[in-house]
Amino acid sequence: MSKRITIAIDGFSSTGKSTVAKRLANELEYVYVDTGAMYRAVTLYMMRNIFVSEGNLDKEAIIRHLPFVSLRFEYDEELGYGHMFLNNENVEKEIRYMEVSEQVSKVSAIPQVRKMLVDQQQEMGKSKGVVMDGRDIGTVVFPDAELKIFMTASTETRAQRRYDELKGRGDEVKFEEVLKNVKDRDFMDSTREDSPLRMADDAVEFDNSDLGLDEQFEKILKIAKDKIAEV
Ligand code: DC
Repeated sequence: MSKRITIAIDGFSSTGKSTVAKRLANELEYVYVDTGAMYRAVTLYMMRNIFVSEGNLDKEAIIRHLPFVSLRFEYDEELGYGHMFLNNENVEKEIRYMEVSEQVSKVSAIPQVRKMLVDQQQEMGKSKGVVMDGRDIGTVVFPDAELKIFMTASTETRAQRRYDELKGRGDEVKFEEVLKNVKDRDFMDSTREDSPLRMADDAVEFDNSDLGLDEQFEKILKIAKDKIAEV
């Protein structure tokens, strides 16, 4: 049997990381972990509880509420990936809403939030055979990952993809609103003090602006197979 490795896929929002990561994990029979879903689920919990009780998403209140947040992924056979469960409730759909996207960068900049989730992510990936996507996987969560891919695409391409996805689900959104959210999150994610989004020195940069889904997948699968053969 070939060696099982750790594959870290990082990049800005809506670069199509999760689509390719899920497919890659299925093909290699690896575990897939969507770390953005974890930050989104913590954010949803805080929005539901702090907005209601305290009316403001302030840092101290978020830290106080952290011990009440329990997260797990439950594999969905039909879809072929894990759904995010927040305190035993399936929140896979709700965490993708624009309201959550608008708050998530603020919540994920808090060091105590990051520490809690990074610990859980390291535990999930400790047996290798994992494809994990996020912002800091190759730099902080698994700096020793055998394969690191940094996905990029133009801002407009990414906003268009996110807009199509939200529209496809029947959400009422405007393109300008999505574009602004993508730009705001790029800025916040890459300028925060704790683990800002940046490309690891040993990552492979992969620009997919002009590539279709199948083409991207084939190229990344080849990179992964070559790496697995090499280690
Ligand atoms: O991948 P995504 O768009 O679902 O991620 C949502 C937000 O979570 C993103 O704007 C920044 C944050 N995030 C993070 O800070 N670190 C990660 N490893 C993954 C996501």
